Amino acid sequence: MSTDTLTVTDNRTGRTYELPITYDTINAMDLRKIKVNDDDFGMMSYDPGFKNTASTKSTITEIDGDRGILRYRGYPIEQLAEQSNYLEVAYLLLNGELPTQSEYDLWEYDVLHHTFVHENIKSLMESFRYDAHPMAMFMATVSAMATFYPEGRDIDDAFNRYKQIVRLIAKVPTVAAFSYRHSRGLPFVYPDNDLSYTGNFLNMLDKMTQVKYTPDPVLERALDVLFILHADHEQNCGTATMRVIGSSHADPYSAMAGAAGALYGPLHGGANEKVLRMLLEIGDIKNVPDFIQGVKNRERLLMGFGHRVYKNYDPRARIIKNIADEVFEVTGKNPLLDIALELERIALEDDFFVSRNLYPNVDFYSGLIYQAMRFPIAMFTVLFAIPRTVGWLAQWQEMLTDPEQKIARPRQIYLGEGARDYVPMNEREG
Ligand code: CMC
Repeated sequence: MSTDTLTVTDNRTGRTYELPITYDTINAMDLRKIKVNDDDFGMMSYDPGFKNTASTKSTITEIDGDRGILRYRGYPIEQLAEQSNYLEVAYLLLNGELPTQSEYDLWEYDVLHHTFVHENIKSLMESFRYDAHPMAMFMATVSAMATFYPEGRDIDDAFNRYKQIVRLIAKVPTVAAFSYRHSRGLPFVYPDNDLSYTGNFLNMLDKMTQVKYTPDPVLERALDVLFILHADHEQNCGTATMRVIGSSHADPYSAMAGAAGALYGPLHGGANEKVLRMLLEIGDIKNVPDFIQGVKNRERLLMGFGHRVYKNYDPRARIIKNIADEVFEVTGKNPLLDIALELERIALEDDFFVSRNLYPNVDFYSGLIYQAMRFPIAMFTVLFAIPRTVGWLAQWQEMLTDPEQKIARPRQIYLGEGARDYVPMNEREG
């Protein structure tokens, strides 16, 4: 008997089944052999929130949640944050290898020369309400891009896919910056292709009357590192959404609008905005113990804490904490930092958090940096969405080229009424 199997005995029938184990995993379809009789549909697994279900094999991002490890294509996140830049990491995520100099130059040229958006996208964005949330504008505009690039629907053609990937990575900073300028009532600033990816983004956010905008190199680099840290995170809620929508062979703009919608939620990328609002609400270090007690009484969540996969410190949070010091040297210290540090100190000593493996995640400190850089709080999740675009697209591409992938279509356990006859309105009671 092979040892790479799982033996299951169905006590309803006394029958025993051998299920192959590959990569420490059984194939859910093998459960269907387990039946009480021939008419039985077969056994399923029940897993709300996909807590223990692998939906794909992937070679892009590896997380070891128990050891606090994150690697893109095998490269530790710490090394990439220290030595690489966002566009190089984007290339790595999409192609599997670091680029040679000529490959990098071509890739950078391609991205930096697709940053402009159609003028109609600009007018579309001008028509949003003055107080529209930037993330809602971002989502809607990415979705509307499907109308400008209808050839995006040809998802089987590799070169065509590449064109849409370049467009999306190049244009999301422009869309994000326009959403910011719109919410401030400021004129939109066109891209400057002489600047770096993040330098140009800062230009589109900040430029007023200067002839040429020069980004602060510390802030430009800090933002670039933040973009590296947020670039991919395997099968999280937004990425799973990208794959689910993409599995129906929808165009990448539609799939990405859905992924951005998932990211917007406060349990996911929307947490960075919620963390800042929470810190503002706490207001003073002296209020921290009461706040923690409220969390322990289940009155609220400690935003920026906890993670589905990391049961140890989120390695991204550790790197962000270090960048914060560099940024604060330029911008001055964010006064909310002391409250955040005190929250972390108390939480990491308290059994409620320790016993549940609740540690700061990527969103706990990122908002403090964004706020010190004078981003409005409502922009924080957009700042997550810009770099996550490459993760979404790398995973979308991997899904489309994986012969094992099928349209995503989960099962359910139906617990509703059995068959019953329609009752005309005048015969209904109650
Ligand atoms: N504050 C207080 N209690 C918490 C928190 C928190 N932030 N997170 C989890 N718990 C408790 C939870 O109540 C549960 O307790 P019990 O077992 O006694 O019922 C236990 O810890 C396990 O939590 P869970 O909700 O079963 O864990 P999950 O894997 O389903 O949820 C999470 C993960 C990130 C949604 C959750 O930790 C959370 O809501 N955190 C706050 C929101 C947040 O910071 N989200 C950003 C995640 S990182 C960025 C990203 O990639 O999206």
